[in-house]
Amino acid sequence: MRRVSTNSFFRVVGPKLVALITSGPLDDANAMAATWHSPISFDPPLYGVSVSPKRATHSIIRETESFGVNLMPYEMVDSAHACGRISKSELRDKLEIAGIKVFEGPELGVPLVEGAYAAMECLLVDRMELGDHTWFVGEVRSVLAGATRGGIVDVSSVRPLLYLGNDLYLTVDPDSVRRGRVKGRPQLS
Ligand SMILES: Cc1cc2nc3c(=O)[nH]c(=O)nc-3n(C[C@H](O)[C@H](O)[C@H](O)COP(=O)(O)O)c2cc1C
Repeated sequence: MRRVSTNSFFRVVGPKLVALITSGPLDDANAMAATWHSPISFDPPLYGVSVSPKRATHSIIRETESFGVNLMPYEMVDSAHACGRISKSELRDKLEIAGIKVFEGPELGVPLVEGAYAAMECLLVDRMELGDHTWFVGEVRSVLAGATRGGIVDVSSVRPLLYLGNDLYLTVDPDSVRRGRVKGRPQLS
């Protein structure tokens, strides 16, 4: 390895899973691409996303106190990318241009993305201004999942969308799936 600028730390942590963060009313919904998102807690179930105050999504989440997290398949790369390069503050019909359709979440009525392979409705429970972004913390109120095997995403039929940086995307190789082992310890089955 060689030392690189601290300003480019976020470039070397890829690839990262692409989510569309949905917000707003169903008839005027927004969706923005995000890679800075994470589970936070099992109990209560909490999920976080880091959003710049420059995003239209930022003020919508503050106003509505809810958001959706939608994990996107590789097939929808151009739609997801458009949601990461167009702002709803410039183009009101952003979702139409991006080719994104939404439906009403079952618990909070948050817009969720058709074609996502997993989606969650989150109720805003906390927010922290951290540097030049806001960390929005949501309590997960509903979870929708597509193809799963043993409760986890079935990557033989779902191709998760990952972002590498510099407008480059990829997906996973299902043939690379293998069970991790702690060498020298008996297997817990
Ligand atoms: C792959 C990708 C990931 C992104 N991740 C984030 C993120 O985690 N947080 C953020 O604030 N912006 C992120 N962005 C930028 C926003 O998605 C982009 O500014 C978007 O146009 C905001 O839309 P809005 O203004 O309609 O909310 C990302 C963009 C791309 C292309």
